[in-house]
Amino acid sequence: MNVLARTSAAVRPKMSDFALDAIAGLSAEPKTLPAKYFYDDGGSALFEAITAVPEYYPTRTELGILKERAGEIAQLIPPGGALIEFGSGSTAKARIVLDAAAVAAYVPVDISAGFLSQEAARLGRDLPGLRILPIAADFTKPFELPPAIRLRARVGFFPGSTIGNFEPPEAARFLRHAAALLGRGAHFIVGVDLIKDVAVLDAAYNDAAGVTAAFNLNLLRRINCELGADFDLNRFRHRAFFNRARNRVEMHLASSAAQDVRLCDRTSPLFLGARPGAALTRASRPALPSHIVRSASLGLPTARLGAGRLVGPRRKML
Ligand SMILES: C[S@@+](CC[C@H](N)C(=O)[O-])C[C@H]1O[C@@H](n2cnc3c(N)ncnc32)[C@H](O)[C@@H]1O
Repeated sequence: MNVLARTSAAVRPKMSDFALDAIAGLSAEPKTLPAKYFYDDGGSALFEAITAVPEYYPTRTELGILKERAGEIAQLIPPGGALIEFGSGSTAKARIVLDAAAVAAYVPVDISAGFLSQEAARLGRDLPGLRILPIAADFTKPFELPPAIRLRARVGFFPGSTIGNFEPPEAARFLRHAAALLGRGAHFIVGVDLIKDVAVLDAAYNDAAGVTAAFNLNLLRRINCELGADFDLNRFRHRAFFNRARNRVEMHLASSAAQDVRLCDRTSPLFLGARPGAALTRASRPALPSHIVRSASLGLPTARLGAGRLVGPRRKML
């Protein structure tokens, strides 16, 4: 009996990190999953569509700041240096920096491998003189930079308020890890959204065309396809709002009916949708200027985008 049990455990295929995180996150209360799982090919395309909806101000605001301050940013990057972007997506923001600075190598890092290689190829066609060294990796885990940039000055780039998707201790861990990876003397440019009118925040994550809702639902579609789950997507509703008490935007996918969901050969009433109203929650944190100043005091080499906006009087960034 014992021998049989040992044999079957030994031949059971190893579960992926995605499967383990999905089981843990969907069994917990509140149910949640790390934001990185939103980005497969479909999720990356939907994120790009979000950046074009009129309510979603962060992308056009940050593009505006980068264009306005490109000269200043370029001065942080020594000629012949390497720009390393964490979560590069469409590379639209890096293109502004690459146009302004004499960068020799660009290292886009992204977990969405198909989208990364497509965007790196497109950038290569547009900027044939630039050395592009894409890395398909999870930037929350250890990974190596390409040996080709070992002797180059390095500048990290982390726009898109992606840092706001981390819980605060994870954000601090990520910043320490990035500082160690970039090495002594490097600069790190981080784009952070600011807390602003609640109506503006609420609208940004509840666009009228329903693109953010589709992006959220894509996570359940991905779990169905890749982990053999059977969520009934038609029974989920997207709702997003700024939670004043917790200073964060919360996005909920709530089930309108009871669903017994199979996931990785398990059926459990604990899984998402087992009771009406059960919701998958994900949070995004815009920051108060004081929070940003505090994280800068982690002792990391940090460049401030639009410094007046971060440490001076609050301005609406629209
Ligand atoms: C909010 S989007 C920002 C995209 C782009 N930087 C911008 O500012 O528009 C987050 C990007 O980070 C990537 N990403 C999210 N979590 C990641 C992780 N743990 N490791 C690597 N890439 C990740 C996603 O695939 C996506 O391209």
